[in-house]
Amino acid sequence: MQPGTAALHLALLAIGVGDRDLVIVPEATFVATVNSICYCGASPLLADVDPRTGLLDLDGLQNFLQNECDTADGTTTERSTGKTIKAIVPFHLYGHPVDMDALDTILKPYGITVVEDAAEALGARCRDRPVGGLGHTAILSFNGNKIITGGAGGMVLTPDPDIAKRVRYLASQARDDALYFAHGEIGFNYRMPNLNAALIVAQLDRLDDFVSRKRDVAGRYADLFADIPGVVTPPEASWAESSCWMSILSLDPEIYTSGAEPIIWPGGTT
Ligand SMILES: Cc1ncc(COP(=O)(O)O)c(C=O)c1O
Repeated sequence: MQPGTAALHLALLAIGVGDRDLVIVPEATFVATVNSICYCGASPLLADVDPRTGLLDLDGLQNFLQNECDTADGTTTERSTGKTIKAIVPFHLYGHPVDMDALDTILKPYGITVVEDAAEALGARCRDRPVGGLGHTAILSFNGNKIITGGAGGMVLTPDPDIAKRVRYLASQARDDALYFAHGEIGFNYRMPNLNAALIVAQLDRLDDFVSRKRDVAGRYADLFADIPGVVTPPEASWAESSCWMSILSLDPEIYTSGAEPIIWPGGTT
């Protein structure tokens, strides 16, 4: 697929997201996630995140589903709009996995399909199982800034052969299996060029090394900032192994009252 945004778009179409549906997405996400929901004619339903981790607030989600939605015949609707909540796109911010096991438990009664956005988390693990391989349809990005890159690129991962078939079909201009050019519906030219794919495949057996190096860098930052008041590096849950795709730190607003800018641009912004 070319790129991760296209992978998300097709994954959502293939699980049946369409006009007037709602798709839950954590509010701290990358805009591609929200855009791909909108491409399907659906609307994003922004969910709170845990301020400490930036990951989907699972208690908040459970409260919302219990108290502000109605479920009948395996379909959940948001009470205030009457719209169907078709899917949720959990997102592993900066490479730290969401607790997908807890999410699955919460979602069980609601008939909401998961599309896991693992764009930033290739190589991360959730209870020793790799993200993207947790039993849901998932997507990866091979954008230039990702752990493995093809310059650009994306991938849909799915255990469901029907979804795989539908994604391949839509990505190839919805070209029917016929001798001549016959197209059964409006498709997309989302196929990944072979050149990009070759770059990606050539890096795959180095994934563990890349992730291990990322984790070393994040650990080094954590050590260096450990004694600086008000500077917090992201915690790692005991059940998780983050890909540490991007090393970040957060600042206590009570200490850093003028925000992050003076630190990022100590001499001014020009
Ligand atoms: C969480 C997330 N989802 C989706 C994307 C989109 O991937 P792409 O840039 O390959 O379209 C990105 C980033 O690039 C991302 O970080």
